[in-house]
Amino acid sequence: MHPLAQKLNEALHDTLIGICLSDYGKEIYFPEGIVAQATEAGKKAHRYNATVGMAYVDGQPMILPTIQDNLPRLTPMEAVGYAPTAGNPKLRIAWKEGLVRKNPELDERFMSLPAVTSGITGAMVLAAELFCAPQDHVFYPELSWDNYDLMFATRFQARVHHFPLFDKKGVLSIEAVADMILNKVPEGGKAILVLNYPQNPTGYSPTKQQAVEWERELIRVASQNRHVVVILDDAYFGLCYEDDIYPHSLFNLLYKAHPNILAIKCDGATKEDYVWGFRVGFFTVGTTSMTPQIAEALEAKVKGALRASVSSCSQVAQSILYKELTSLVYHGIKKKYMEELKKRYEVVRDLLNRRSAGRKLQELPFNSGYFMCFDTGNLNANTLREKLLNDEGIGTIALGDRYLRVTFASIDVKDLPDLYETIFRTADALSS
Ligand SMILES: Cc1ncc(COP(=O)(O)O)c(C=O)c1O
Repeated sequence: MHPLAQKLNEALHDTLIGICLSDYGKEIYFPEGIVAQATEAGKKAHRYNATVGMAYVDGQPMILPTIQDNLPRLTPMEAVGYAPTAGNPKLRIAWKEGLVRKNPELDERFMSLPAVTSGITGAMVLAAELFCAPQDHVFYPELSWDNYDLMFATRFQARVHHFPLFDKKGVLSIEAVADMILNKVPEGGKAILVLNYPQNPTGYSPTKQQAVEWERELIRVASQNRHVVVILDDAYFGLCYEDDIYPHSLFNLLYKAHPNILAIKCDGATKEDYVWGFRVGFFTVGTTSMTPQIAEALEAKVKGALRASVSSCSQVAQSILYKELTSLVYHGIKKKYMEELKKRYEVVRDLLNRRSAGRKLQELPFNSGYFMCFDTGNLNANTLREKLLNDEGIGTIALGDRYLRVTFASIDVKDLPDLYETIFRTADALSS
């Protein structure tokens, strides 16, 4: 049991609540990770808040104009009617068309119609509800979104195997992960692999060559009599800032890679369409054995699981998102927003290349998404975070003792030099 859960249970010991808790109720806790640190930064970071995964301009969240314009214009049904269990059918089709456009190797015959979930988190939980039994083997990197531990280890009681995201040379681990799966999962068994690109917290995405390597290595695993469920967390899809990055989702390759590979795409409007609080995600399954009959049975399973958890998702958000996806200005405006985030990335790269201070902070490879991470080496990452927050009014996220995550996507270009120079100076002062 996690020590934080133990502490909570001690506080509830011999109370009616403590006595009545389920096994899951006893195991669950609220991590002292990203959300807790972001809450603290919300109170104290009066200069820059580079903690939470949102993109800001001039202190306000970025918002696409069609979203803003449509807010007061909805019909009563669009605004407050119930949405169907698996989501607005027109929206589901529009999202599917978008997936096919963004992932040119997708063949609609082998994929399910995306179901609407409560954010990408909801899609991941649905994937786990349907495919992750207690004691199943689940694989994801040591440095990952902290919610994976809460979902897979605490809630679904899986056997979690963490692997290093990069090898000792700083290259994405792929072959070693395939070997690890073959080692841990017996023949005939099931492996669940969670891949998230662009990655949280490092901001790394595979190159074109690495994408093909993932495909080859997972085929190697699948052909040795392992069932492989690959859950693709594509939360930051599309935010690629370098030309050599594989520009599609790995779903594009994996759904048809081998009959033993089941690919599940968890994505959503949250970051792709700058609507963090809408809570609209999508759950899409791809596999070579998909037939209309199989898709129908799967749809019933998905609807059952949604009905038993959230019942259905926000109608108002789905109505506005549908208008956004089908508006004529959508692609042009989105491109502009993406270019703004790319500019922020390029400024950060430039600052790192030109820095004279803060050399003890070693950045991990990054090329995409919202974040970058420093390896703080001998300097305790939380000590640096606290110093930045309390003395400089700057919010960052410490991940364990060694890594500091900076959300450059949430900081205006004009403020990035001051932010990074303050981080470098503070790290140097603490190291001397
Ligand atoms: C990697 C990753 N996956 C999923 C999510 C959650 O997305 P949503 O807010 O749509 O549930 C986040 C949010 O920060 C994330 O960083």
